[in-house]
Amino acid sequence: MITAKEIRQKYIDFFVKKHGHAAIPSSSVVPENDPTVLFTTAGMQPLVPYLMGEKHPAGSRLVDSQKCIRTDDIEEVGDDSHCTFFEMLGNWSLGDYFKKESIAWSYELLTTPIGQGGFGIKPELLRVSCFEGDQNAPRDEEAAGYWKNCGFADVKEASSDERKLIYFYEKKKNWWGPAGQTGPCGPDTEIFYDREPGLNPHEHASGSTEEMRNKYPLKDGSGRCHPNCECGHYLEIWNNVFMQYNKKADGSFEPLAQQNVDTGMGFERIVAVLEGVSTHYETELFTSVKAQISALAGGQIAQNEENIRSVRIIADHVRAAAFILGDKMGVTPSNTDQGYILRRLIRRAVRHGRKLGINRHFTHEIAETYIADYGDVYPELTQNRDKIIDELKKEEEKFQTTLENGLREMKKIFSEAKADFTAGKKLDDKALAEKAFFLYESYGFPQEMIVEELLREGLSIDVQIFSTEFENKFKAHQDLSRAGAEQKFAGGLADHSDESRKLHTATHLLHKALKMVLGDEVHQKGSNITAERLRFDFNFGQKMTPEQISRVEEIVNEQIQRKLPISCRVMTVAEAKSEGAVGLFEDKYGDQIKVYTMGDFSMEICGGPHADNTADLGAFRIQKEEASSAGVRRIKAVIGDAAKK
Ligand code: SER
Repeated sequence: MITAKEIRQKYIDFFVKKHGHAAIPSSSVVPENDPTVLFTTAGMQPLVPYLMGEKHPAGSRLVDSQKCIRTDDIEEVGDDSHCTFFEMLGNWSLGDYFKKESIAWSYELLTTPIGQGGFGIKPELLRVSCFEGDQNAPRDEEAAGYWKNCGFADVKEASSDERKLIYFYEKKKNWWGPAGQTGPCGPDTEIFYDREPGLNPHEHASGSTEEMRNKYPLKDGSGRCHPNCECGHYLEIWNNVFMQYNKKADGSFEPLAQQNVDTGMGFERIVAVLEGVSTHYETELFTSVKAQISALAGGQIAQNEENIRSVRIIADHVRAAAFILGDKMGVTPSNTDQGYILRRLIRRAVRHGRKLGINRHFTHEIAETYIADYGDVYPELTQNRDKIIDELKKEEEKFQTTLENGLREMKKIFSEAKADFTAGKKLDDKALAEKAFFLYESYGFPQEMIVEELLREGLSIDVQIFSTEFENKFKAHQDLSRAGAEQKFAGGLADHSDESRKLHTATHLLHKALKMVLGDEVHQKGSNITAERLRFDFNFGQKMTPEQISRVEEIVNEQIQRKLPISCRVMTVAEAKSEGAVGLFEDKYGDQIKVYTMGDFSMEICGGPHADNTADLGAFRIQKEEASSAGVRRIKAVIGDAAKK
């Protein structure tokens, strides 16, 4: 059987060797300079500047396997389809090939026999979907035409036993580009896999439903199941996005300067398909870790639904935590942003470990297995091994203390309730639920655990009222965090306004000025730009003095007044180093990298984009200098009119 590693490699090789793409390494799971998302949620995210027209140093045909994190559905993890960390395989055309090649090559890779460089999927197990058209963009007959060249037929014209079919859907399904934001977008074509090939596709698992009969009626009076049917008969395995528009702030669409292709294939899904299993949790990717969790829980784990879910949650969450901790952006558990998500992942894994009877610190042991499994493909895991292990141990330790405090708190609440109860008062189920929710929120105690404790204490609560109240609170809380999350996870397009270009330029000037004032060992640890300000993290052990801050501001303002031209050149890492460029993320671009020069003042390896001249910044002012984490300081700064106030 083909292994997961071979599948990943085969995808890369197919595009490199057969179709002239350059393989580029995965970017960080924490986006650089992109405040709209906490994590990289799709392969296209780190490539947005290039989709908008920046030149990529590796060329106009790229292929990669991008580390992604999506946590908006964290509560669903453990079912058959959700995971927080996943890899997205992608091939990219930056103004190079378009629909014709993209579709032909997808079909070629999927259906070429295994021994001949393909995935060997039987063509009759594939279905595809295209955009049906609306007021903004026409029906994608062009894409459908290329599918027809591969032997597919429009479902509306097909006989009842045809399998290779093209379906058309509205924007919600066949368009890619985050709603409500600006940036590159366009129609897409999705490729689906028939998971139940034994079943005739017009014999739906649950009979011929009304939806099927209305949507895709067949002559015999039945209807056909379709790729986006809820029943799960079809699994989406690959999405080819044809980025030909730029969505503007006023909601209108203008043609992009260049036509791009952005494809995304969920690695875990394709592995499941090729290994012939129904969920990624059954693939080889999780075999060792699942066995390890069983062993930690003392041997056999009873295979009931709840336990299976707990095992999956642990396997998923520790993998995500290891990749976040093992990332060069240096996130550690905390109560804000990425650090908070990381903390939540680790603590959820620990809680599910306790449920399975694992009563000692264990997440670091599972992380070791992942480091061994993935270290050759993602060397940063091996490089950051000690950090991953130490942080997991520390976080479990902290959580242990929190749990103990929480248990004490719970006992207190219960004994007060019990005293009232014994004194003959009726329990106020609503008030108790409110307190229970506080325990959930502060200590992560789940509802069923609290109910169990209440009943164990002999308190006969009305579980119905209690649960309803708890659920209400839970929902309100969830809506709140979802509203917050939507903002953060809205979709991956950075703001590429002029303002953010200028702030990005200011970041380079600041970086150099800090080196001049504080010492050359000072370097960037992180950067985040919104439309209003820049935020820059750097390694430095003490608070900066007011004099140092003024001096840095002075230097940056001098460079603005000197009206330095900004230019960009493509060179190798070695050339860049020998010219004295500051190398921040040199492992990201493969061989050829871009270097931005600002007059004679600054030279930095960077993907861009930037202003054309330092004069465009107007002025620069530091608003705040504070600690970010141990040994790391954080500066927030503004430019232009905001800096003149
Ligand atoms: N951007 C598309 C996706 O995330 C294809 O890569 O599905």
